[in-house]
Amino acid sequence: MIKPVIICVDDELFVLTSLEEQLKYQFGEQYKIETTSSGEEALRIFKHYQKDRIEIPLVIADQVMPGIQGDELLIEIHTIAPDTLTILLTGLASAEAVGNAVNFANLYRFIAKPWYRQDLLLTVKEALAHYFQERKLKAQELELRRMNERLEEKVNKRTAEVLRQKTELQDTLENLKLTQSKLSESEKMASLGLLTAGIAHEINNPVNYIYAGIDSLKEDLKDVLDVIKGYEKITAQNVNEALKKVKSLKETVAFDELIIEVDELTTSIKRGAERTAEIVKGLRIFSHLDEDVLETVDIHENMETTLIILRSQYKDRIQIVKSYAELPKIECYPNKLNQVFMNILVNAIQSITDEGVIYITTLLSGFKTPQMVSIEIRDTGQGISDEIRAKIFDPFFTTKDVGQGIGLGLSISFSIIEKHRGSIAVKTNQGEGTAFTINIPLNIRDLKNAK
Ligand SMILES: Nc1ncnc2c1ncn2[C@@H]1O[C@H](COP(=O)(O)OP(=O)(O)OP(=O)(O)O)[C@@H](O)[C@H]1O
Ligand SMILES: [Mg+2]
Repeated sequence: MIKPVIICVDDELFVLTSLEEQLKYQFGEQYKIETTSSGEEALRIFKHYQKDRIEIPLVIADQVMPGIQGDELLIEIHTIAPDTLTILLTGLASAEAVGNAVNFANLYRFIAKPWYRQDLLLTVKEALAHYFQERKLKAQELELRRMNERLEEKVNKRTAEVLRQKTELQDTLENLKLTQSKLSESEKMASLGLLTAGIAHEINNPVNYIYAGIDSLKEDLKDVLDVIKGYEKITAQNVNEALKKVKSLKETVAFDELIIEVDELTTSIKRGAERTAEIVKGLRIFSHLDEDVLETVDIHENMETTLIILRSQYKDRIQIVKSYAELPKIECYPNKLNQVFMNILVNAIQSITDEGVIYITTLLSGFKTPQMVSIEIRDTGQGISDEIRAKIFDPFFTTKDVGQGIGLGLSISFSIIEKHRGSIAVKTNQGEGTAFTINIPLNIRDLKNAK
């Protein structure tokens, strides 16, 4: 192993030899002791070791020498190797030289000549300990700095990564919003499709009623007319005979029953016509799905229309039990609200696999301000498990088969009710049924102004 070097410089041979002897005795095992009698030579030796990267912890120099002086030498050494410690030996207490060395040469101590052997050895020992302590500290500092840099680098990398993820998330969210609104549009289209199919189906029945009714009515009226004609033929001369004929005609056509049948037929034709009119009205409400204007409407009417449209999906198996409160007209986006009723009702209908009941209840909360209207749609369907309940308002969450549902109904309904500054809540028991309660303000504009 290469030993670190201590360089000693003194022009007095006796002093130099005794310095070397004392240092070698004490430190010779761990250090190489180099001696020289001139400052110039000392500098050369120093640079030689430095070039070979051999450590030089200490230089001990006499102050007064021919050529380069001790303080000058130590200052020079300090500029080329700031870590090396220096000790100045001085016969005359030269204050200026010591001051120079202290200020510019990292002077560790100065030792007055002649010195006590123990003093010298202790000073050198301390200087060496100090040097290695400093070096250790520096190495630790360097390691710490390096670790810091590495940490900083890691933090920077992580921050950049987090930022990148954030942007990516934001982009995804934007995309999702866009998709959702697009899908919301297509959902409207779907309800329009559903609507058309429902209307076609529903309108078919009453129109058949009217058709069939009119044909029978026409035949019945022909018989009635025949009887009337019989009466018209009666004159003073043939009264008895003609009356007999009319009577027998009346018997043939079962006149009394005929009159009842005519009455029944007109009633049923009227019912058919009314039903058709109702459906047409529904069509009118649903035909402006894109309109987004606040209107004051009777929401029961909206509910009824929605029920008509969905009738083919529930009639014969699901009973609809309504309990409507006396409600004033409500300010809302009617087409959007229709969509909410439709989505919740469709879910309710789909949740009842066989037969069941859907209860529709409306209430007005009269005490609170703002006044709220509550609409509850409760079904006796299969209910929702706790695990699923947490997700039902999430876009695209569905438990239905492909083609049956895309999982947007409730998420769209949620945004619509939010737009109305209302709330939507669900209560459910698995196996027993589900109740959705919508609360919306009676007058959304008041609420907007108040905010
Ligand atoms: N009344 C209900 N009874 C039982 N489960 C329901 C009911 N309403 C909603 N759910 C559950 O919530 C899920 C999400 O409902 P949502 O209306 O958002 O979507 P969907 O009905 O599956 O599809 P979409 O409405 O888009 O056709 C349903 O798949 C179903 O599991
Ligand atoms: Mg649905």
